[in-house]
Amino acid sequence: MAVDVLLGLQWGDEGKGKIVDVLTRKYNIIARFQGGPNAGHTLEFEGKKHVLHTIPSGVFHENVMNVVGNGVVIDPVIFKVELDKLIDQEPHVLSRLKISRKAHLILPTHRLLDAASEAAKGKKKIGSTLKGIGPTYMDKTGRNGLRVGDIQLDNFSELYNALVTKHKQLLAGYEGFEYDLASLEENWFAAVEYLRSLDIIDSEPYFHDAIAAGQTILAEGAQGTLLDIDFGTYPFVTSSNTTCAGACTGMGIAPNKIKNVYGIFKAYCTRVGSGPFPTELFEEVGATIQKNGHEFGATTGRPRRCGWLDLPALKYAINVNGVTELMMMKGDVLSGIGPIKVCTAYKYNGEVVKHLPYKLQEDLIEPIFTELPGWDEDLMQMTSEDAFPQSFKDYISFIEAEVGVPITLVSVGPDRAQTIIRD
Ligand code: GDP
Ligand code: IMO
Ligand code: MG
Repeated sequence: MAVDVLLGLQWGDEGKGKIVDVLTRKYNIIARFQGGPNAGHTLEFEGKKHVLHTIPSGVFHENVMNVVGNGVVIDPVIFKVELDKLIDQEPHVLSRLKISRKAHLILPTHRLLDAASEAAKGKKKIGSTLKGIGPTYMDKTGRNGLRVGDIQLDNFSELYNALVTKHKQLLAGYEGFEYDLASLEENWFAAVEYLRSLDIIDSEPYFHDAIAAGQTILAEGAQGTLLDIDFGTYPFVTSSNTTCAGACTGMGIAPNKIKNVYGIFKAYCTRVGSGPFPTELFEEVGATIQKNGHEFGATTGRPRRCGWLDLPALKYAINVNGVTELMMMKGDVLSGIGPIKVCTAYKYNGEVVKHLPYKLQEDLIEPIFTELPGWDEDLMQMTSEDAFPQSFKDYISFIEAEVGVPITLVSVGPDRAQTIIRD
């Protein structure tokens, strides 16, 4: 059987957690393949809200296995806090969770290096989540990293000390950066001890056997395509491949095992952290979208910047990922805001272009908008697309015609139930 992939097509926070939860009953296994606690995936059902960071979003369903794949980076402290909270609500959660031996570990010094590097960049900072993501992936590609499997080795402390010695030398290069490592280490080692007690596996053969046995797998992306290390708005990106190819390297599955690629996008755009955002709204309407959409980070609480939907960027993301179906989130947030603009091209260096240029520098690029009529009806109560106001139907059709991929799911609220599947 095949693997399906679900991923974000913008700058993250598209609503991946909600939709993974909605789709989970169709799958035997849900797997994360990249990122780490920089992610914040929100699920809402039965009047409760849950935010997951490292744990896959299928965890609330019985009889579904959740696997943290090799491409993920794990902070044992955050992982334990997340699990402790979950166990309160789902006592059997541990029996539904497996962790790859090859996932890399975020050390306390990775977090310190993230903070020191961001502080040193000043105004040019990435606006990282300060979870140590960049430094951990740097150690992975630099062939210095520690992996979950290492905590099962007798010489783990030796490996740890060798890496921390390197990190201390790097930290010494950041003048004036002070830290208290001892207190961070105490928590970290306690959490490593806990991690040791969990179900740590060789995840590639686990996936291969599952596929051979006809099981269904959904790969859950974190962040979004425009934050991809290769294809995002570099350098204002995260440090992993958030795109479909990342599912292959982050799980050890072959490209020809991937069938459906579900691409999620919001009916508008948001971005948290620094970096270019051509359709960003600085006037009142941006503030209204932020307020109505509760656009504040699920991990850091930072306000998310808001802007109009950017179709050249969306098309690029569709192509990079081979998206087979689109899912549109948060159309309800645009109710009552008046006419809606959609970016269909850019003026770049004086020329009209329909592709995403190399540098999205503000002084070089100007979005070209098409204006569409808005709608005033509250979509949140609607349970079928027949009930949608005509201008919302037209908005959906306009996007489909521009990008050439069908929108098969429309989300009209944060709750699991506020999800409309289209024919
Ligand atoms: P993720 O990182 O892609 O999983 O997305 P986040 O959880 O960070 O952010 C999405 C936010 O939008 C969460 O607060 C969700 O509860 C909420 N949300 C998801 N879908 C919808 C929707 O269709 N309408 C509204 N109003 N909120 C939604
Ligand atoms: P989910 O999975 C939105 C952003 C940060 C910063 C940049 C680099 O919830 O969609 P990092 O800590 O990864 O080094 O930060 O990436 N970022 C996200 N933005 N949603 C996320 O995850 C993000 N994860 C990282 O704000 O701009
Ligand atoms: Mg999020």
